Amino acid sequence: MTRTIEAKGFSIPAVGLGTWMLRGRDCARLVEQAIRVGYRHIDTAQMYDNEREVGEGVRASGKRSEVIVTTKVQPSLLAPHDLERSVKESLARLRLDHIDLLLIHWPNPRVPLSETLGAMAKMKQAGYARALGVSNFTVALLDEANKVTGEPLVCNQIECHPFLDQHKVIAACRKHAMAVIAYSPIARGGARGNDTLERIGKAHGKTGAQVSLRYLVQQGIAVIPRTSRVERLEENFSVSDFALSDTEMAEIAALARRGGRVVDWSWSPKWD
Ligand SMILES: NC(=O)c1ccc[n+]([C@@H]2O[C@H](COP(=O)([O-])OP(=O)(O)OC[C@H]3O[C@@H](n4cnc5c(N)ncnc54)[C@H](OP(=O)(O)O)[C@@H]3O)[C@@H](O)[C@H]2O)c1
Repeated sequence: MTRTIEAKGFSIPAVGLGTWMLRGRDCARLVEQAIRVGYRHIDTAQMYDNEREVGEGVRASGKRSEVIVTTKVQPSLLAPHDLERSVKESLARLRLDHIDLLLIHWPNPRVPLSETLGAMAKMKQAGYARALGVSNFTVALLDEANKVTGEPLVCNQIECHPFLDQHKVIAACRKHAMAVIAYSPIARGGARGNDTLERIGKAHGKTGAQVSLRYLVQQGIAVIPRTSRVERLEENFSVSDFALSDTEMAEIAALARRGGRVVDWSWSPKWD
C-alpha cells in the first residue's frame, strides 16, 4: 500500500504512473498492469493522445473506484466554452463517468485565469471532476489562481527531480496548502547512472531511479514516473520500504544545478 499526499481533503497516492508517449495497446496493457502492481494514480492529458487507452486500462483493471485518474486541459482550450467542451470530450475518450483530478496543463496568458478557473469550477460542480488543480504554475500564478478560484485547487504538477531546484514554487504550494506532483521525477531516465544516486542506492539495495523517487516522496511530494517496460513498474513503485538519512537527502539536494530542466518550455504560450 502506497502512502498518500493529502491536500484540502483530497488524497493523492504518492506514486502514480505517467503516460506521456505511451500509445495504443501497449498503453492500455501497461496501465492495467500498473494497477495490478498497486498503482492507484494514473496521469494522462488531452495532449498525450492516449486518453482512450488509459481509460481502457483503468476499466480493464476492475479497480476504477480506487484509482485517481488525472487529465489535463491543453493550453489552447482554456477559454470557458472550449474548456467545457474539451472536458466532456476527454470523458468520452476515457469512457469514465468522471475525472478524479482535472488540471490546467500549462497556463495561457491570452485567457484570463479567472475565466478558466470559473469554467473548471463549473465542471466540478456538475460532477465531471472530483478535484481541480494546475500544472506548470509559477509562484506568481499560484498566488493569482488561489485568489480568484471559486473551488479549492489541490495541486500544482511541476517538473521536479534531484537535478532541478524547485524550492520556491514548492514553498508557494505549501503556503496555499496544495500538493506538489513531480513530473519527470527520474529526470527522463537521467537518475539512472548518476554516481551519487547509484552509490546511495547501493547502500540501500536500490537503484538510482528509486533513490530519485524516494528523495521526492520523503519530502511529501507525489511522483508520476513513466515507463514503457512492465518490469520497471515494480521498481518505480517500490520506494516505501527504505528511508534516506538527512545526510543523504542533503547530498542529493546538492545535485541541483542551473539548466537542470529536462522538459523544454520554449513551445509554451508566451506572455506578451
Ligand atoms: N504537466 C506537464 O507539463 C508534464 C510534463 C512532462 C511530463 N508529465 C507527466 O509526468 C510523467 C513522467 O515524466 P516523464 O515521462 O517526462 O519522465 P520520467 O518519468 O522522469 O522518465 C521517463 C523515462 O525514464 C525511463 N525510466 C523509467 N523508469 C526507469 C527506471 N527505473 N530506470 C531507468 N530509466 C527509467 C523511461 O524509459 P522506459 O520506458 O524504457 O522505462 C523513460 O524514458 C509523464 O509521463 C507525464 O505523465 C507532465
